[in-house]
Amino acid sequence: MVRGRRQARNRDNHKAAPPLESAHAPHLAMTPRDPAPALPPDSRAAHSTPSERWPSAAPPLGEVLPPPLDPAVPRSHTPADQNNPGAPMRQSPEKHPFRGRNFYGRLKGKTLRPMQQEYLDQDLKPLAPAGVSFTDNPQRTRVDPAAWFADPRPLWLEVGFGGGEHLVHQATLNPGVGIIGCEPYINGVAMLLGKIRDAGVENLRIHAGDVRDLFEVLPDACLTRAFLLYPDPWPKKRHHRRRFVTPEHLVPLARVLAPGAQLRVATDIPDYVRQTMKEVPPAGFTCLNPARVDWYAPWPDWISTRYEQKALREGRTPHYLTFERNAA
Ligand SMILES: C[S@@+](CC[C@H](N)C(=O)[O-])C[C@H]1O[C@@H](n2cnc3c(N)ncnc32)[C@H](O)[C@@H]1O
Repeated sequence: MVRGRRQARNRDNHKAAPPLESAHAPHLAMTPRDPAPALPPDSRAAHSTPSERWPSAAPPLGEVLPPPLDPAVPRSHTPADQNNPGAPMRQSPEKHPFRGRNFYGRLKGKTLRPMQQEYLDQDLKPLAPAGVSFTDNPQRTRVDPAAWFADPRPLWLEVGFGGGEHLVHQATLNPGVGIIGCEPYINGVAMLLGKIRDAGVENLRIHAGDVRDLFEVLPDACLTRAFLLYPDPWPKKRHHRRRFVTPEHLVPLARVLAPGAQLRVATDIPDYVRQTMKEVPPAGFTCLNPARVDWYAPWPDWISTRYEQKALREGRTPHYLTFERNAA
């Protein structure tokens, strides 16, 4: 029964939409394994932003704190906590899978290969940002993310990094930036850890859990860029409120982004574009490429993700939207 429902949901989620305006999307002609083609300079201009600012220069934005945790509510843990051998057992995983929050995605897929389990056992803990998991910081006090890196640097965030190809790509391109990746799907985390070993990058910190754990403890205006790449589409209308581009996620995201920070959103779902254009600006952002004709050019430093490759194979059209966090 549960299996049947899950299969039906997967079918819904992956239904191919007719390609949109492919005349404006010349890069879509590429085969799945082709690198993204170089773009003419004017198509890149749609995504240009003012130069990065240092997080500490930003004045505090409106304080929007998550509701205080009720110690009486039975708590379970994110995958990050579950990886911690000292963490208390889940008390009620079905009812409180994420400490009273709803999370509808997958936490685990196929059985991990022994090598992937080794990555998780050996590499995850040293890369976990201190004070983010519930086990590490049950009082949910604010953390200093600058302390996660050896020297002061701009900090970026990737929400839901999937297999981690974009995260490692950006870390390689930007060794002077500290990038925090959040992903509750433990198989994706294991894949990322393998890529980190191969690439040898040292400027990543990984929270193997929900990005809302991070939002709870980050100070205001501490990040200068965020990536939301192919967020779960939730195609059924009654599930649209599960999408990331809802105030539940956008308000705390806006709080932790510094004025002038860039938010990049990629999606292959036209209705997700509609909801993003509707919901993101009121949360405190300005769209830098509001014209439809500019939605089809990837960013100059883009690498196609696993999910984008799947979308292309299934005939869906990628859209790339860039927003800038407004000044307070
Ligand atoms: C459709 S996949 C896309 C993965 C990847 N960005 C790509 O383009 O291949 C969306 C990912 O977002 C993750 N996700 C969903 N909700 C999340 C949350 N609240 N915090 C962090 N990650 C989340 C899911 O686990 C899933 O791996």
